[in-house]
Amino acid sequence: MQVVHTKVELRAALKEAHTTGKTVGLVPTMGYLHAGHASLIRRARRENDVVVVSVFVNPTQFGPNEDLSAYPRDAEKDSALMRAEGVDLAFFPPVEELYPPGFTTYVQVEGPMTATLCGRTRPGHFRGVATIVSKLFHLALPDRAYFGQKDAQQLAVIEQMTRDLDLGIQIVGCPIVREADGLAMSSRNVYLTETQRAQAPGIARALFEAREMIRDGRRDAAAVVEHVKKTIAAIDSAAIDYVSMVDPRTLGDLETLSGEVLIAVAVKLGRTRLIDNIRVEV
Ligand code: PAJ
Repeated sequence: MQVVHTKVELRAALKEAHTTGKTVGLVPTMGYLHAGHASLIRRARRENDVVVVSVFVNPTQFGPNEDLSAYPRDAEKDSALMRAEGVDLAFFPPVEELYPPGFTTYVQVEGPMTATLCGRTRPGHFRGVATIVSKLFHLALPDRAYFGQKDAQQLAVIEQMTRDLDLGIQIVGCPIVREADGLAMSSRNVYLTETQRAQAPGIARALFEAREMIRDGRRDAAAVVEHVKKTIAAIDSAAIDYVSMVDPRTLGDLETLSGEVLIAVAVKLGRTRLIDNIRVEV
């Protein structure tokens, strides 16, 4: 595995692949890699000649009171995981490499898609995500880029941006990888206290119950959402940010259920904010 830190090195490392028509798969991450990230890398490995993984804790997607400085980092462990998964090129840029002094251009996906769900409490978050992902796209020029359904809103925003700006990159959405007890894997799970960690799988259980309700024929979105809210509210120390039932492509609210349905939640356990979701085909 080749490890690079600068844009010049990244472009040079990919030049041969691009000129000889090899396919390039990109997996953007913020590091502290776990089995969820590994599943994206594995899929990219299967589908491309060259696999690039970026590890960059992107400051522009963190709000002023968020966890940028506390965000967990472990470059050595990340490199070991990437090597084990057969990554060809690892990109670890320092902040100044991607945001040099004087940087002032951002990519903003407008409209309800970024205003709803996490956009309500994290203004500017998706602007930061769209900006860094478009920079990484321009640097690596991948054929395909891999994102987790864990961050369903992020995936929808990246798909929208890619369509709107004619980026010509195939966006591949990958299923959520969970711990054995159902908790969706996340780099942020390390913030949880032992008690919160024991409570956290209750969030996924509420979503699994909602899926069962829909599979059993319930078609009233409000009733299903109410059940999820009640179940999560019963977890000690849980504060619900949102529970929403939306169209996974547009993120528009659904009143009656048909087609593909996304039930998305954000919950704070103490100071740690967790997101999770489930897709159900109605
Ligand atoms: P990060 O949280 O590190 O996640 C990197 C990718 O891994 C994202 O596409 C995310 O959806 C996916 N992922 C995380 N946990 C997962 C899980 N349990 N199952 C499946 N996929 C999972 O998301 C980001 O970084 C950043 O916003 C980024 C896109 C890199 C832009 O900075």
